[in-house]
Amino acid sequence: MPKIIIDGREVEFRDGQTVLQACEAAGTAIPHFCYHPKLSIAGNCRMCLVEIEKAPTLQISCYTPAREGMVIHTQNEKVKKARKGVLEFLLINHPLDCPICDQAGECPLQQNTMNWGPDRSRFEEEKERFGKRVEMGPHVMFDAERCIKCTRCVRFCDEVTHTGELGLVERSDRAVIDVFPGKKLDNAYSLCTVDICPVGALTSREFRFENRVWFMGQAKSVCAECSRGCSMTVWTNMQGEVQRMTPSRNDNVNGTWMCDAGRLSYMEWKPEARLRRAALRNGRLSEKPLDEALKAAASALRSARERHGAFAAAAWCSAFATNEEMFLLKKLAGRVELLSSPQGASDDILVRKDKSPNRRGAQAILGSENLSADIRSGKIKALVAFKPSRAAELPLGPAELAKLDVLVVLDWQAGPLSEMATHLLPCAAPIEDEGSFTNEFGWVQRIAPARPAPGEAMPGWKILSNLIGAGEDSAAKVFESLAQSIKAFEDMTHRKLGASGLRLASAEEPPR
Ligand code: SF4
Ligand code: SF4
Ligand code: FES
Repeated sequence: MPKIIIDGREVEFRDGQTVLQACEAAGTAIPHFCYHPKLSIAGNCRMCLVEIEKAPTLQISCYTPAREGMVIHTQNEKVKKARKGVLEFLLINHPLDCPICDQAGECPLQQNTMNWGPDRSRFEEEKERFGKRVEMGPHVMFDAERCIKCTRCVRFCDEVTHTGELGLVERSDRAVIDVFPGKKLDNAYSLCTVDICPVGALTSREFRFENRVWFMGQAKSVCAECSRGCSMTVWTNMQGEVQRMTPSRNDNVNGTWMCDAGRLSYMEWKPEARLRRAALRNGRLSEKPLDEALKAAASALRSARERHGAFAAAAWCSAFATNEEMFLLKKLAGRVELLSSPQGASDDILVRKDKSPNRRGAQAILGSENLSADIRSGKIKALVAFKPSRAAELPLGPAELAKLDVLVVLDWQAGPLSEMATHLLPCAAPIEDEGSFTNEFGWVQRIAPARPAPGEAMPGWKILSNLIGAGEDSAAKVFESLAQSIKAFEDMTHRKLGASGLRLASAEEPPR
C-alpha cells in the first residue's frame, strides 16, 4: 500500500483517499465543516487546511488526493494560525446563540472554536441580520443567522433524495440558504439535513427546545419500522421518555441516513396502549402479578401437552420478535407459524415495503409452518401468540380460536388477541428490549434497551426463558445457543456483532 507521512509518522493509505480521509483513517482528526463522507466534496469552509510540503500554500485536505510520499503537517503553527483565522471569519456573523441553541453540546462550530479558535472577537461592526425561525418544511426550522453556508443541506437534497428543494442564493455576506420558490423542504428524509448541519441553523421542529443533549440518555438500537433496520441512537430524557431518534452510521445498512417516518415513529407510541400488568382468565380476564401469571401459563402449556400429546401446543409469532425470542419460542412451542407483516410504500434510498424488522431472521430460525388446519381440527389445544398486535392480519378469527383451551398472548400493546387471551403477559417493546434483528438483506444487528419496560412488562426473551424453565440470564447467552444451533448464524456472538452487525452466511448484497 502507498505511504504518506503525517506529523512525522509514516502511515499507509488506500488509493483514492483524500488527505483528510487518510489522516482520519490513521487516527489524526482534521477539523472540518463542509466535508461529509456521504456527499460530494464542496471545499468551501476552509476549516480542513493542512500544510503539505512542497505545496506553495496551505491546502484543503478534504479535496486534495493523498499521493505516495506526501509529507503532511496538521498541527504546526502555520496550520493552527489558519484554523484560528477561519474560525474568526466564520464567527463574524454568527449570532452566538449557544445558550439557547439546540445544537449546543454536539456542535462542531462550538467544538472547533474551543479547540482551535480565537478566545475573543475583534469584530466591532454590526452583524448581518437574517431570518430566524423560518419554517423550511413540516419538520425543519431554519435560523439563517447561524448558517455557515457549508451547503451540506443543499448537496443532500441534490445528491441523496434528488429533490433539490434548497439552494444558496446571493453572494458574499448576503448569501443565504433558501428553498426554491413554491417549494418546501418536505422530502421523506428532510430531518437528515438537521443531522448533517454542522451548526444549529437547521433544527428539528419536533425536538427543538425539548432538552439539552447532555442531560439525555442514549442507546444504540435498530429502527423497527421497516425491514431495512436502520442503525439508530434512541435518546431519552430523565423520565425515560423518547425525545428523538437519530441515525447511527452503518455502511452495511443505512449509511448515515434514516427516513423521517422511522425516526418520528416514537411519537405514535401511545402510553395508554401499552400492556403493563399480566392478566389471567377466570371467566373474565383479571390482572395478576406477573410471576403468578407466568407459573399459570407454564403449567397450562405443560398440561395441554401431557393430556393431548407434544403437538397440542404451538405458537404464532410476528416478525417484530427478536432473533433470540424466536429461537426460544421455537424451543417452547416446537411448531411456530410466522404471522404476516404490514406492507407499505418503498423507495430507492432506504425504505422497504415490508414494515417489520425481522422477517429474514424468522425465515432462518422458524422455517415455514401453517397451523390453521390443526387449530381448526382441535389438534392444537394451546397456542402462544408472540407480539401479534403488529401483524398485518391473523390467519384465523375469534370463532376458530375459541376452540383453543389455552391462548397465551405475549405483547407490548393491546391488539385483537389480548381480549381473547387466557393468559396475558406484558413484554418489552423493541426500544426496551435486548437482542438482535436480521434485516431484509441478512444483516444481523444488536438492539439495546433505551429505557426499562413499563409496569411489570419484561423483555420477551426473559419471559420465554422462564416459561421453558431454561434460566438463561442474558440475551447474549440465548444468542450463543442460537448460533450453535442454526447454521446461518454460525460463529456469531453479540460481541462479534459489534456496532455494525454481521451478515448471515446465506445473505445477498443489499442494493446501494
Ligand atoms: S443550513 Fe446548515 S447545512 Fe445548510 S448550509 Fe447552512 S450550515 Fe450548512
Ligand atoms: S428506512 Fe425503514 S428502518 Fe430505516 S428509518 Fe425508515 S422505516 Fe426505519
Ligand atoms: S472541510 Fe475541507 S473545505 Fe470544508
